[in-house]
Amino acid sequence: MTINIKLKNINYRYEIYQMFNLFYPLSEINFNNVNYNYKISLEKNGIIIEDEFLKEEYINDKNINEKGNLKKSIYSFLNKKTGKIFPWGTLVGIRPSKIALSMLIKGKSEEEIVDYFTRNYFTDKEKAKLCIRIAKMEIKMVNKDKNKISLYIGMPFCPTRCLYCSFASNPITKCKKMVQPYLRSLVEEFEGISKYIEKKGLKVQTVYFGGGTPTSVNDEEFEYIMKKIYNKFIYGNNIEEFTVECGRPDSLSYKKFKVMKRYKVDRISINPQTMNDDTLKLVGRNHTVKDVIEKYNMARKLGFNNINMDIIVGLPKEGLTHVKNTCREILKLNPDSITVHGMSIKRGSDLYKKLELTHTNHNELMEMYKETVKLAEDLLMEPYYMYRQKNMKGNMENIGYSHKNKHCIYNIQMIEEKQTIIAMGADAVSKVVFLDENRLERVPNVKDVIEYNKRVDEMIKRKIEALEELYN
Ligand SMILES: C[S@@+](CC[C@H](N)C(=O)[O-])C[C@H]1O[C@@H](n2cnc3c(N)ncnc32)[C@H](O)[C@@H]1O
Ligand code: SF4
Repeated sequence: MTINIKLKNINYRYEIYQMFNLFYPLSEINFNNVNYNYKISLEKNGIIIEDEFLKEEYINDKNINEKGNLKKSIYSFLNKKTGKIFPWGTLVGIRPSKIALSMLIKGKSEEEIVDYFTRNYFTDKEKAKLCIRIAKMEIKMVNKDKNKISLYIGMPFCPTRCLYCSFASNPITKCKKMVQPYLRSLVEEFEGISKYIEKKGLKVQTVYFGGGTPTSVNDEEFEYIMKKIYNKFIYGNNIEEFTVECGRPDSLSYKKFKVMKRYKVDRISINPQTMNDDTLKLVGRNHTVKDVIEKYNMARKLGFNNINMDIIVGLPKEGLTHVKNTCREILKLNPDSITVHGMSIKRGSDLYKKLELTHTNHNELMEMYKETVKLAEDLLMEPYYMYRQKNMKGNMENIGYSHKNKHCIYNIQMIEEKQTIIAMGADAVSKVVFLDENRLERVPNVKDVIEYNKRVDEMIKRKIEALEELYN
């Protein structure tokens, strides 16, 4: 579908684009003064929007700015036209709980915060209250000490590449030869970074080993890298959390679980994404529902008492009955936390080339999300962190729920951006946080594994230079 918009007296193209993109995702949106099907005019007291069938005038709310009024007007118009309602309203920001957090810090009441969200963005009261709940959790957890840091380690390999994924995820079957050189480079980064941490007397709060899939390498390779991580960063450091995002059940083995136990991993993820075999096959995740259950039970037997499960809402060809089934099966397993992701159609994914698979009825999609909220309630979990991405189906959110004291500290620190995170490995992005100046600097490593192996010294040097600005 192509949308052509004519503007009169307005410059805010990006905001207008965002609103049309919300109601007509993946459409081509152009600004065209000649062949147009929408006309938007900024007048003295408000905004006039018209198309072939409908002409509406919206009076500005004097308490909010011009951009906010414009977005609300377009939202109202397109809502009238399509009947679609989005629980976040016009809000498209990545960290909505930050708004609630800063208002709580300024001493605003919950009522005032809810009112702010609804007035400025048409955000649903429930979503505004969710932001407040999460912000309250974050106030307790969020980092305040510049010398306290977290570490991220990336493994850019996976058993296969999932249809929807755009992360660094090289299929292991095609890249076996790349693994050992990669692990050697990674260990070089460990050496450089651990020396720096020691020299500066930094305190490591959490270590997160993710990717990709850390467990996609073979048992020996996995043991080799885990031992290095343990010796360089965990042993003797009294860290609060060590997570390995195992992710894919087809990458797990009894030996790998034993290795994780030996090296003091205290939180793991075993991610189903869905508990429907047809969908798993369609998205190219070479494992079955049975594998999820087997590996989950194996981990429990071996004593893992903090297991997370990721699921995605809006997977290709899934409807409400699929999500209900996923929720029913996960409820039976009773993990310690769940992370619910809204399907995001990423340009770098294979799914982007198969857009015909991405359509879901809007109202059904909203019901599917509600089902996951109910799952968290049934599991007696609390929401503890949340973020949003571009092009998420239904403009919803990714949200983490957990049992008491089973939340992921790393996830909170990473989303709140108040803690320096030193990230190692291909495609890993470090964040140097200058708390006093309320500023952060991103330092990305290169994405390509071969390039990373060649330039690992440069990656270390570049990171240390950025860290020196903070710790010199
Ligand atoms: C970096 S991935 C790594 C997890 C692990 N490799 C796995 O797939 O189980 C973290 C999570 O992001 C989510 N994810 C990845 N691509 C996504 C997409 N396009 N839309 C929504 N969620 C996505 C999945 O739930 C996945 O478990
Ligand atoms: S979703 Fe996970 S397993 Fe699938 S390709 Fe992405 S990182 Fe790899």
